[in-house]
Amino acid sequence: MSTPLIVIGAGGHGRVVADLARAAGFEVTGFLDPSPALRGAMVDGLPVLGDDAYLASAAPGSVLLANGVGGAGKPEIRRAVFLRFAETGHVFPALVHPRAHVSGNVALAQGCQVMAGATLQTGVQMGANALVNTGAVVDHDCRIGAHAQIAPGAVLCGGVTVDDGAHVGAAACVIQCLRVGAEAMVAAGTVVIRDVPPQARVAGVPARTMG
Ligand SMILES: CC(C)(COP(=O)(O)OP(=O)(O)OC[C@H]1O[C@@H](n2cnc3c(N)ncnc32)[C@H](O)[C@@H]1OP(=O)(O)O)[C@@H](O)C(=O)NCCC(=O)NCCS
Repeated sequence: MSTPLIVIGAGGHGRVVADLARAAGFEVTGFLDPSPALRGAMVDGLPVLGDDAYLASAAPGSVLLANGVGGAGKPEIRRAVFLRFAETGHVFPALVHPRAHVSGNVALAQGCQVMAGATLQTGVQMGANALVNTGAVVDHDCRIGAHAQIAPGAVLCGGVTVDDGAHVGAAACVIQCLRVGAEAMVAAGTVVIRDVPPQARVAGVPARTMG
């Protein structure tokens, strides 16, 4: 019997992650969510098992975890959830949708998520808890740091580096060999033609610092 997998967070991202994990062949047994409104509820056919306290009685090896907390609004919560449980020995397997295209020459760290329709070309590296969302394109030799997110439909041309915790917004494009600094935010639809400094917020075509 395979090790069961629990998704932390039963909101929109969590539901997509549950679908992803099931499509990737994991036995998903339910969600954890702190919302009182969801206590005992069924979400997309899976039970909400309780809140984080549910894991207090689960030995780290007895269950796998998936991070179902989205990060567009509050990336720090997504990061904190991953670190809290990874540091206590819980395992977050890398999850790759069977209808993503992932080169055989890609390195995926613990807890990476690659959603349906995404493309990861040769030489790509993803750090822990990084996310490449639906239909995003990550071309050859890109490096995506820990906890970073590439939103739906975004395009990273070859050799781009996205540092830890940065967010590349939906349908944004980063041209080749640039660097998006740690914790930076690239707004949806932006075209990045120069490096983005750490923690900067940029938007527009071409990208400019947001006021
Ligand atoms: C960048 C972003 C975080 C800004 O959100 P915000 O702080 O609430 O900013 P506001 O909506 O108040 O907009 C502030 C200004 O930036 C502009 N702006 C916001 N988003 C923009 C975008 N994507 N492109 C160009 N300009 C943008 C607004 O027009 C506004 O300009 P103004 O001051 O001249 O009126 C948000 O717009 C965004 O793009 N988020 C990414 C969404 C995403 O990728 N989702 C994927 C989820 S998986």
